[in-house]
Amino acid sequence: MSLIKLHDKTFEPYVTAVQLQEIVARVADEIYQDLGDSRPVFVCILNGSFMFAADLVRRYKGLCELSFVKMASYEGTQSSGKIHHLIGLSDDLEGKDVVVIEDIVDTGNTLEEIYRIFADKKVHSFRIATLFFKPDAYTKDLKIDYVGKPIPNRFIVGYGLDYDELGRNLPEVYQLNTSLTMTNIVLFGKPGAGKGTQAAFLKEKYGLVHISTGDIFRYHIKNETELGRLVRSYTDRGDLVPDDVTIKMLQEEVAKNPDAKGFIFDGFPRTIAQAEALDAFLASKDMKIHGTLALEADDEVLVERIIGRGKVSGRADDQDETKIRNRFAEYNEKTAPLIAYYQQQGKYYPIDGIGSIEEITQRLSQAIDLIKSK
Ligand code: IMP
Ligand code: MG
Repeated sequence: MSLIKLHDKTFEPYVTAVQLQEIVARVADEIYQDLGDSRPVFVCILNGSFMFAADLVRRYKGLCELSFVKMASYEGTQSSGKIHHLIGLSDDLEGKDVVVIEDIVDTGNTLEEIYRIFADKKVHSFRIATLFFKPDAYTKDLKIDYVGKPIPNRFIVGYGLDYDELGRNLPEVYQLNTSLTMTNIVLFGKPGAGKGTQAAFLKEKYGLVHISTGDIFRYHIKNETELGRLVRSYTDRGDLVPDDVTIKMLQEEVAKNPDAKGFIFDGFPRTIAQAEALDAFLASKDMKIHGTLALEADDEVLVERIIGRGKVSGRADDQDETKIRNRFAEYNEKTAPLIAYYQQQGKYYPIDGIGSIEEITQRLSQAIDLIKSK
């Protein structure tokens, strides 16, 4: 197995044909343990489930029936929105033990429709078997009786699953190779160096998702979410938010954007420990940091800028010169060692942060283009 290309995207090997057979055999046994010789009706949801269904029933040790249906939808009235139905669904399922066979459950929207459609069929029992399940993407409470393999929130193809109709015939499963196409950037700089302003331009230009830990914390505090209250319990005492809280929040933000072309991390990492935690988390998602851009500017210029900004925004910590210089001191002490950390990995790009906004965007873009070409 090696990389494959479908349309514009590259996919890498994920689950081998042998592993798939092991998974399928296990699911078939689990179902047999529950239903044995009660002659269940397997309802295969086309197109994606055709291979899974074919292998599953071959492994099923008892008698069973097999039916193939296809989900279709038509516009209902405005209030009902799209109405889904299953083409080919037999009307004599009454009293039967039904097992719906799905290829993958993602958000669970399709599953919800299936549950609704079967609600009035007077079946004896109703079960769901899915080959793949994305718990991070799942938004419903509906029961899934048999799960072949829970997977991260990443796009997969093969063994019935398609990317725009290609890939269904592959005997193994591949996942979208994001590390080849992604560009993940850490944006560094002292307070006032213009990170937020520049991130806004870069995000537009390169289609990246901007994750500012400061902005997210402020959002959660303002909206009094659970995370916001947790964060305040530290900041109210003058303590820093512990790394595991911040990392968990980052994980959620990354999980919300599974198709992102890349991320701009702004305000994180601030310490070597955080940089190591970020690397470990990204590695677990088959991702990495491609480059660190550091906006450099003289302290005196920055102090003037921040005080000017504080007058406009009213942010109290932006109006007190002593506090600003304290933030610089903290930056120097904790964050400056990160320069060496990223230099050693050949990922450090210092950027002259003095000049017009356009000039600085230009310099940052040059660095990103260089990073992308590597
Ligand atoms: P849900 O309604 O969001 O649970 O999505 C279910 C449907 O989305 C599946 O039946 C697939 O057709 C499609 N889908 C979700 N994730 C993937 C994937 O990773 N690869 C291919 N198709 C997917
Ligand atoms: Mg499908």
